[in-house]
Amino acid sequence: MPDQPPRRVALITGASAGLGAAFARHLAARRWDLVLVARDGERLAAAARELSERHGVAVSVIVADLATEPGCVAVEARLRDTAAPVELLVNNAGIGLNKGFLRSTLEDETRILRLNVEAVMRLTFAVLPQMTERRSGGVINVSSVAGFGVTAPGSTYTATKAYVINFSESVGQSVRRHGINVLALCPGFMRTEFQQRAGIPTAGSPGWMWLDADSVVVAALSDLHKGRYVSVPTLRYKVAATALRYTPHALVRRFSAAGNRAVGRRPH
Ligand SMILES: NC(=O)c1ccc[n+]([C@@H]2O[C@H](COP(=O)([O-])OP(=O)(O)OC[C@H]3O[C@@H](n4cnc5c(N)ncnc54)[C@H](OP(=O)(O)O)[C@@H]3O)[C@@H](O)[C@H]2O)c1
Repeated sequence: MPDQPPRRVALITGASAGLGAAFARHLAARRWDLVLVARDGERLAAAARELSERHGVAVSVIVADLATEPGCVAVEARLRDTAAPVELLVNNAGIGLNKGFLRSTLEDETRILRLNVEAVMRLTFAVLPQMTERRSGGVINVSSVAGFGVTAPGSTYTATKAYVINFSESVGQSVRRHGINVLALCPGFMRTEFQQRAGIPTAGSPGWMWLDADSVVVAALSDLHKGRYVSVPTLRYKVAATALRYTPHALVRRFSAAGNRAVGRRPH
């Protein structure tokens, strides 16, 4: 029998719901073996069963809270494992808080920083040595179009996502010569569990704002393949990202204050 080519392994954080679950479905359909990470072990096990039965791929799970030290350590250990090296890391797990810094708690601020920033940095740091050694690999770090500017004054979510964009672009440039692509994925609004978990009201938000997670995944995988550093799916959000990036900050501040008044959001 001819030798089978080695299977490619992708590790996806926040794979029990929303965008992470969409990444898992698309990569399984493209015959990637998967490692799924999140806190809800039952949901992960159900997803693993379904994907392996449907696509004939190997799916394992790591139940881990990435806002904690033991959670990060467990996933780092898998990423350093060279016996079945992870070829694609999707740092997707993330949360929003929907409250301003003055009304927040130190516990919540620490949790968002650990999950949205520290875990992304640590897992990227853990996976790169085996990728540089093999001269192959990819990392998708999920940011947000909100990372291009302060759109909700007082919210620290945008600061965490700005880190992810700058971090990914900077590290991405330094590892390109080792055959590794690092992509910052910056979606606009998607109908996932994100808003409900953060307590963000969605009633009345116009239909055009909403992206479908499956299309975001397709755009991200295509942009990673093309070697792009930043992916902003859809023309409307590309325009928004460009405006946020290049409009003078004083003007952005005025628009975001007016926008918050228009949607009746409490000042942060
Ligand atoms: N939805 C949007 O409008 C939107 C827009 C732009 C960017 N994003 C970004 O997209 C990414 C995915 O969000 P989503 O929209 O798919 O949200 P989601 O539906 O709420 O899914 C979040 C995922 O992250 C996991 N997670 C949450 N806290 C975790 C922790 N402490 N440790 C490990 N896993 C954790 C959740 O699983 P468990 O609860 O089982 O742990 C879940 O699988 C996030 O980084 C978010 O910032 C979302």
